[in-house]
Amino acid sequence: MIAELDSPHSKNLHSPVVQSIMLNYPSRSRRLPCQIPMPSVSALGIQSQGRGECYKMSSNLFDGLLNLRSLFRDRRALGHAFNPTNLPHRNEEITSLVNNLVEALRGHAPSNMNLYGRPGSGKTAVTRFVCRDLESKGAAEGCNIRAVEINCRNVDTKYRVLAEIGNRLADEGDEMIPFTGWPADKVFEHVRARMQARGGVHVVVLDEIDHLVRKGKEGDDLLYSLTSLNIGLLDGAFCCVIGISNDLAFTDMLDPRVQSRLSPIDVVFPPYNASQLEDVLRPRAARGIKEDALDNAVIPLCAALAAKEDGDARRALDLLRISVQRAEQSESQQVGINHVRQAQNQLEFDQITPTIQNLPLQQKLVLFSVIVNEKNGLSNISTGEVYGTYEMACENAGEKPLTSRRVSSLIQGLDMAGIITAKKTSRGRHGMSKRINSCLPPAFDALQVMSSAEPVMNEVIGARYRLQNRL
Ligand SMILES: Nc1ncnc2c1ncn2[C@@H]1O[C@H](COP(=O)(O)OP(=O)(O)OP(=O)(O)O)[C@@H](O)[C@H]1O
Ligand SMILES: [Mg+2]
Repeated sequence: MIAELDSPHSKNLHSPVVQSIMLNYPSRSRRLPCQIPMPSVSALGIQSQGRGECYKMSSNLFDGLLNLRSLFRDRRALGHAFNPTNLPHRNEEITSLVNNLVEALRGHAPSNMNLYGRPGSGKTAVTRFVCRDLESKGAAEGCNIRAVEINCRNVDTKYRVLAEIGNRLADEGDEMIPFTGWPADKVFEHVRARMQARGGVHVVVLDEIDHLVRKGKEGDDLLYSLTSLNIGLLDGAFCCVIGISNDLAFTDMLDPRVQSRLSPIDVVFPPYNASQLEDVLRPRAARGIKEDALDNAVIPLCAALAAKEDGDARRALDLLRISVQRAEQSESQQVGINHVRQAQNQLEFDQITPTIQNLPLQQKLVLFSVIVNEKNGLSNISTGEVYGTYEMACENAGEKPLTSRRVSSLIQGLDMAGIITAKKTSRGRHGMSKRINSCLPPAFDALQVMSSAEPVMNEVIGARYRLQNRL
């Protein structure tokens, strides 16, 4: 029952049920051998005509799913675009922002800030939450305060960031800055003039700022310009820059002059633990999911699984939302731990597929060599065994084999991507060796994914190999 689950101090996580479920969820290196069930045929409104025969459709393919009783009360509450009005376990971070940004309400320039933290640690949600309150307090107090949030993953050049700021500050009758074509100086001059004309404090939030900073001089120039605005360039107005990043070391990439201007205040968002993630999930579940629709173990399990994935609140919410969808699709009245297990598998599949599709061909050949040895019954394969198969695979692909040293670093890359594990072991006086195993979910068909992404892999997969056996 949601009402019961709502207690923020519930410690279901430590209950024997959840503990025993968690034993089945070891880290990425041993995944559950579980297939992803698709919506049942009857749920899709499709009636089987018997073995080997065509399916007869009911009036419309979507009717079946639309007619299912929904377990959601408001699905948006579990979505990424939802802006929660309560952010448990982020009081310290909120306070750091508020203590600095209050200067805007006093008519001064707040310091620039950098916010760091792992994905899903609440950086964007907290910043939006504080900026919303800052703007509404400013409006109530008659202070002109405006926050402009830009995601530098999407808007990733100096020109585009400045144009975006300038256009958001445009008043009626102001010329729109074109998407491209003006000299950068002219765009910056428009931004400065518009900030000055509006007056007050302009908070520029550069989310995922590392995407911009990686561009070297371009990022330096933009940040230098923005952080210089308060030094005599603006008259009667202020600008404050808040940079948000996953990468604690992103300022190391900056020019030292920009570094010292940008980061007078750093705030680090720690990852959530399982019990904190439960507190994040419960209010959103209460709003988004019907009462009685969740088994007691569901929220603790979603929280515990997401805590293992770097304490990512986004992951916890995705798990919960997809679990409910899975329960609906299987026409269950209640979401149970089996639906969470299916959701976890679906998320893993969704993540792994593009990673494998986008591997360079040489890395695909190395992965193929690991998998084909495993299919031959070998585990804990050595680098030498992988290399032997890899050379044959290269021949079948018409590729020149790389040196074993290069292949060793490709193996390391696959390990870092979480696709294989390569543990170093000592072979006594023969030096060190690696024990290599794939860690893909057993139901995941990596060979199929590779061959549909790279046609030459069909030749590689279809060929015959002389593989070693161990006694
Ligand atoms: N304390 C919290 N309470 C409620 N929801 C939260 C909390 N922290 C994060 N969330 C939710 O988790 C999701 C991810 O949070 P957010 O986007 O703020 O993470 P982030 O740190 O910006 O991640 P990334 O680095 O990937 O951009 C969002 O849906 C957000 O609403
Ligand atoms: Mg974010």
